[in-house]
Amino acid sequence: MSSTKIAIFDTTLRDGEQSPGCSMYLEEKISMARQLERLGVDVIEAGFPFASEGDFRSVVAVANECRDTTIAGLCRTVPSDIYKAAEALKTARRSRIHTFVATSDIHLEYKLKKSRAEVIDMAANAVRIASENADEVEFSAEDATRSDVDFVCEVFKAAVENGATVLNVPDTVGYTLPTEYAALVRAVKERVVGDKNVTISVHCHNDLGLAVANSLAAIEAGATQVECTINGVGERAGNASLEELVMAMAVRADKMPYTNNIDTTQLYPASQLLSSIVSFGVQPNKAIVGRNAFAHEAGIHQHGVLSNPLCYEIMTPESVGVPKNSIVLGKHSGRHALIARYEALGFDLNDSQIADIYPRFIALADRKKNVYDQDLMALAPVRVPTAIAA
Ligand code: KIV
Ligand code: ZN
Repeated sequence: MSSTKIAIFDTTLRDGEQSPGCSMYLEEKISMARQLERLGVDVIEAGFPFASEGDFRSVVAVANECRDTTIAGLCRTVPSDIYKAAEALKTARRSRIHTFVATSDIHLEYKLKKSRAEVIDMAANAVRIASENADEVEFSAEDATRSDVDFVCEVFKAAVENGATVLNVPDTVGYTLPTEYAALVRAVKERVVGDKNVTISVHCHNDLGLAVANSLAAIEAGATQVECTINGVGERAGNASLEELVMAMAVRADKMPYTNNIDTTQLYPASQLLSSIVSFGVQPNKAIVGRNAFAHEAGIHQHGVLSNPLCYEIMTPESVGVPKNSIVLGKHSGRHALIARYEALGFDLNDSQIADIYPRFIALADRKKNVYDQDLMALAPVRVPTAIAA
């Protein structure tokens, strides 16, 4: 079996940030973006520049900071949005304008109040302007999975004719099923893409808990870009979780012959960093990065794992970057151990931040016997409001 490269498009800073409790300050977005780059994602969607001044500044800052990754900015199919995104992305090493319009009848009638012909014109015009103002253009047919497939293909054809090289098929409301989604992707591949150099992307929400399964089904049907977020954060029930997608492909490479650029040992640090930024952590039983993902409580399981971890572990904790707890942090720990632990958790602290944290760490260790990762995250750098940081 030959292996196909799957591009990982991370939207933690855009779709992720759109969910309740997930808003991030500028400095936090920058450190998250740095971690995403360490992780090896192909595209960072850094924000929706027209939505707010804060979003605009974040996209500018991430574009300046992350030089190895394509930076995307989201916009509606409205010229003012597109020019704003182009301005935010102008210093990016490689810029991508991601423009979207809904294609389902329900959105056309109640939200956009537009005819199908008007939506085709909006898509064509937006993609044309975007392609003159960025290195690449991605076009999304919002609510594609509840849209008429003939119409989705018509809109996609107009987008490709005007310069889009990535076509995204979002399951905006997390409604589709794996076989149905795969059929939609196959239709787009056969009827729109053919032998053109155009990437099919998938973007799944998790309202029925199927975001990862749907994304994998779509990849099998021909999609070569997957949109996802750290810890699966995102609108409502979230987006497809990056760590679950990547580890499913890694662990089941026997059935899914795909490659990607991700350094899986950076998954846990990315998850921990995001948890320290947003106002909620991951559920303990969350696949890959939850506190219990590698914990064994039952005696039979403990015996099995001690004899050979393969009995109950399909991947090693080290392969996803869960640090070995050989060093227990307490009141006798020095700065080196503390810095090393923060690094393992994905924090890149400077000297003044260490100088601020260390005495507070010692004070805490005086009160508690052991200091755990959650405690370190609570001590981590103070939030810097966008207005001050900018
Ligand atoms: O869920 C969705 O449809 C989106 C688009 C903007 C891609 O987030
Ligand atoms: Zn979305």
